[in-house]
Amino acid sequence: MTRNSFTPGVPRRALALPLAGIAAGALASPAIAQGAPLRLGLMLPFSGTFASLGENIAQAVELHLNERGGRMGGRPVQVIRLDDESNPANAVANVNRLLGRDRVEAVIGTVHSGVVMALVQASRERGVPLIIPNAGNAAATRELCAPTIFRTSFTNWQPAYGMGLALGRQGVKRAAWITWDYAAGNEAGEGFRDGLRASGGEVVRELKLPFPETNFQPLLAQIPGLNVEAVGSFFAGGGAVQFVREYAAAGLRDRVPLCGSGFLTEGTLAAQGAAAEGIRTALHYGDGLDTPKNRAFRSGFRERTNRDADVYAVQGYDAAQLLGIGLDATRGDPTAEQPLARAMRAARIDSPRGAFTLSPSHNPVQTIYLREARGGLNQVIGVAAEALADPGTGCRMA
Ligand code: PHB
Repeated sequence: MTRNSFTPGVPRRALALPLAGIAAGALASPAIAQGAPLRLGLMLPFSGTFASLGENIAQAVELHLNERGGRMGGRPVQVIRLDDESNPANAVANVNRLLGRDRVEAVIGTVHSGVVMALVQASRERGVPLIIPNAGNAAATRELCAPTIFRTSFTNWQPAYGMGLALGRQGVKRAAWITWDYAAGNEAGEGFRDGLRASGGEVVRELKLPFPETNFQPLLAQIPGLNVEAVGSFFAGGGAVQFVREYAAAGLRDRVPLCGSGFLTEGTLAAQGAAAEGIRTALHYGDGLDTPKNRAFRSGFRERTNRDADVYAVQGYDAAQLLGIGLDATRGDPTAEQPLARAMRAARIDSPRGAFTLSPSHNPVQTIYLREARGGLNQVIGVAAEALADPGTGCRMA
């Protein structure tokens, strides 16, 4: 029995309930028993402003797969890539393509907080295991949490909360927030506001433009008149490169310090050059983390891609680690929902960012580092928040 035979749109939970409690492997299909390849879908952006993020995630998934000899739970893994272009308008069609035409049995995806909602819905309805290797949309591990949905990245709230907290501790009382007007930018804005408030400051103004537009000039022109001591931001990928350059070119860099969720300077420093020097950000990863795991990971990633690893690569690597733990526990059966979830929920992931566990709503509980861009690296200069969990508000795990 495979989940792919379920009628799309029919709530799978009703169909699957009688299976609850049956031991892992007891229902393993003949295909699984014969070691048929496990079809793993990677739904990620391979084009558009987040293309480099998707590529690093995919490369790191494959890096870990190679380390495991290409197998999980005893089955060879066949990776099927699908480019979602970070386009929410095509998200449902892309998910149906992956689950229907491509018959994938588990999915790692995606980057964009709007696009991921189609994957979340499919996982809830059809029971296909989903591991989110980036998109920080809070709903996925709050009110829409489910036994089949896991995340190895963050909620948008987490890094931004750390940044706000660190800024307030530095004595900043008044800040502005600038971002793309979509779930990631707005939820990060809430985190920034909550963190800043908790340490004595306030966000006095929010400036926004539609995703993925880059017409920053009208917003930048307002900043000198706001009477703020700092500007916090969420941008990523190609948009972040352009934003940081234009912020400096507008002469703002030395007048109103720019900071943000760490994506602002993640995987982008080479292209941002001197414009990024000195920018402080908060994130669950930093370039200089000097641990054996991080050193080995970075050298493996560099050998494979000829590029330096970044947080996206780390999250992809950890998504593959987590899926491997789940499938090893079910002898390669991704439909064994309860044992799979139990094993993944209990996992302690030996991540390049530092070991982490998952909260009850399946989101990482993790250290948020304070970093400063120096000489082309995001150097860790402190800890913004230790063992930070997302509140997980509204998550009722069935
Ligand atoms: C998101 O849409 O959730 C998102 C995209 C890019 C990032 C971080 C979050 O770097």
